[in-house]
Order: sequence, then C-alpha cells, then structure tokens
Amino acid sequence: MEALSKSTVLANGIRMPWLGFGTYKIPDGKEVEDAVLSALESGYRSIDTAELYENEKGVGRAVRSSGLDRKDIFIATKVWNTNQGYDETLKSFDRSLKNLGVDYIDLYLIHWPVKVRYQETWRALERIYRDGLARSIGVSNFTVGHLEILLKNCEVRPHVNQVEFHPFLFQKDLLDYCNRNDIRVEAWRPLLRGEVSEIPLLCEIGGRYRKTPAQIALRWLLQLGIVVIPKSVRRERMIENSRIFDFELADSEMNSIGSLNRNMRLGPDPDSF
Ligand SMILES: NC(=O)c1ccc[n+]([C@@H]2O[C@H](COP(=O)([O-])OP(=O)(O)OC[C@H]3O[C@@H](n4cnc5c(N)ncnc54)[C@H](OP(=O)(O)O)[C@@H]3O)[C@@H](O)[C@H]2O)c1
Repeated sequence: MEALSKSTVLANGIRMPWLGFGTYKIPDGKEVEDAVLSALESGYRSIDTAELYENEKGVGRAVRSSGLDRKDIFIATKVWNTNQGYDETLKSFDRSLKNLGVDYIDLYLIHWPVKVRYQETWRALERIYRDGLARSIGVSNFTVGHLEILLKNCEVRPHVNQVEFHPFLFQKDLLDYCNRNDIRVEAWRPLLRGEVSEIPLLCEIGGRYRKTPAQIALRWLLQLGIVVIPKSVRRERMIENSRIFDFELADSEMNSIGSLNRNMRLGPDPDSF
C-alpha cells in the first residue's frame, strides 16, 4: 500500500502518483464504478478519465463511495477535440467538474493537439489553473513540434505530456525533450492493450524476478521516469499491475527492452490524426 502511494513532484511542486488507473472504454454506471472502487481498494490513488470516455459520473461516484478524502485522490481528466477553443474549453471543464462531482481537478489535459485551436485551448487551461480549479495542467499526444510552439507562446508551461509509450513505441527524443523542459511524461497504453504478455523478452526477464511481462513493461517505464496508467477491470490484474515498486531492472535489461522499439502505434499519429 505504501509503495502504491509513491509519487513524483511536478514542476509546480504538486505530487502526482507514479501509478494511476486508466479508465478508457470502461462504460459509465456500475462497470466503471466497480472498477474504480476496486482500484481504490487495491491502493491506487490516481485515476485517469476524460470527457471522451463518458464515464466521469461513475468515476466521481466511486471516489465518493470509497470513503477516502478527496485530497488523497489524484483525478485527471481531459478536454475533447470537438470542444477545444477558449470558451468551449471553459464550458467543458465546468461539465467535467459537475460530472465528477468535485470542486477541483488535479490534472487537466488537452486530449489531442487540434491544429489552430490548441493554443487557444491552452489559454483556457492557464485561466483554470490560475483560478485554482486545476492543481496542474498539461497536454496529451503532443510531439516535440507541438510543444516547441506551445512553450514559445505560453505563460504557464505544461506540467505533464500524456502520450502513447510502450516497448514497441520508445519515444526517446520526446522523452528527452520533456525531461529538459521539466514536463513529466505519462504513458498511455503502457501494456500495449495486453499484448505485452506475448513479448518473449519481457517473459524471459520476468522469469528472473518472478514478475509478469506486464509488470516488466511497467517497471521499464517507471525506471525511465515515466508515470504509468494501466487499465484493467479485473481486480487480480489491478493488483498485479501495482506490484512494480519492489524490484529493479538492470541497465542491460533496460537497454534490451529499449531495443524492442518498432515505432509502432496502436493509436493515431499526433501529426496526422
Ligand atoms: N491520452 C490519450 O489519448 C489516451 C489514449 C488511450 C488511453 N489513455 C489512457 O491510458 C489508459 C491505459 O491505456 P489502455 O487502457 O488503452 O491500454 P493498456 O492499459 O495498455 O491495456 C489495457 C488492456 O490490457 C489488459 N490488461 C490489463 N492488465 C493486464 C495484465 N496484467 N496482463 C495482461 N493484460 C492486461 C486489459 O484487460 P482487462 O481490463 O480485461 O484486464 C485491457 O484490455 C487508458 O485506460 C486511458 O485512461 C489515454
């Protein structure tokens, strides 16, 4: 339990757990409520949702029924592409607050860098941040090119960039750029939607530590300094995915996992989505 609460400190001093719980494609209502409650009972203290997932209401209900203090749970949500722009984003944010039933968000993200509009959207996030309604703000699916433009024009720098990142998509240049600019990288689809279990090298390394391929993939990301948000609706897998703080991969293992890279995306390419 203690290990699960380990956190990184973002550029603005806010603590964000290294491990969060992903909720993409978990339907609203009982399904997401049960899953999030189960994750919270298993020790997770960070939940990733989005306007797009249409499950914020259930996430909020699970947070309330957990009996935990709101301040002990890190909630992230995102503004969807069709609602970008200054005024639309402010409205979207208000809707998310209402859906979640909370009075602040821990991390508010721009879901994708919608051309032309993402800079206006960022101004809205800056306002939300200054008004104290989001403790930190960030982006998702931003490339170095998008970040360069944003950093030249922003007043508040993004604290986080949530991107697809796994052993088949080792975005080293983006990671280095974010590290140099004090932007914490967060990996979505860290388990390759479960396909990591089929990667022989991860099975082999797992055998050395009595860990599963999923745990090796998550540990590799953590050791790169990346926040992870695996999703599972099964409690045994939630627990499995959280047992990643009690062992350490050797440099040679880190390198060999890094060399699995195929620049393979399961999601869209941010430059052409
Ligand atoms: N910002 C973005 O654009 C973006 C895009 C996609 C996702 N995300 C976020 O990132 C989170 C994670 O990504 P994801 O849900 O797409 O994929 P993921 O976490 O890589 O994989 C989830 C899949 O893997 C299975 N799984 C979970 N634990 C496992 C284990 N230990 N061994 C084998 N299989 C396992 C799950 O099945 P069961 O549920 O049946 O266990 C589920 O089908 C999302 O939920 C969402 O919050 C963000």
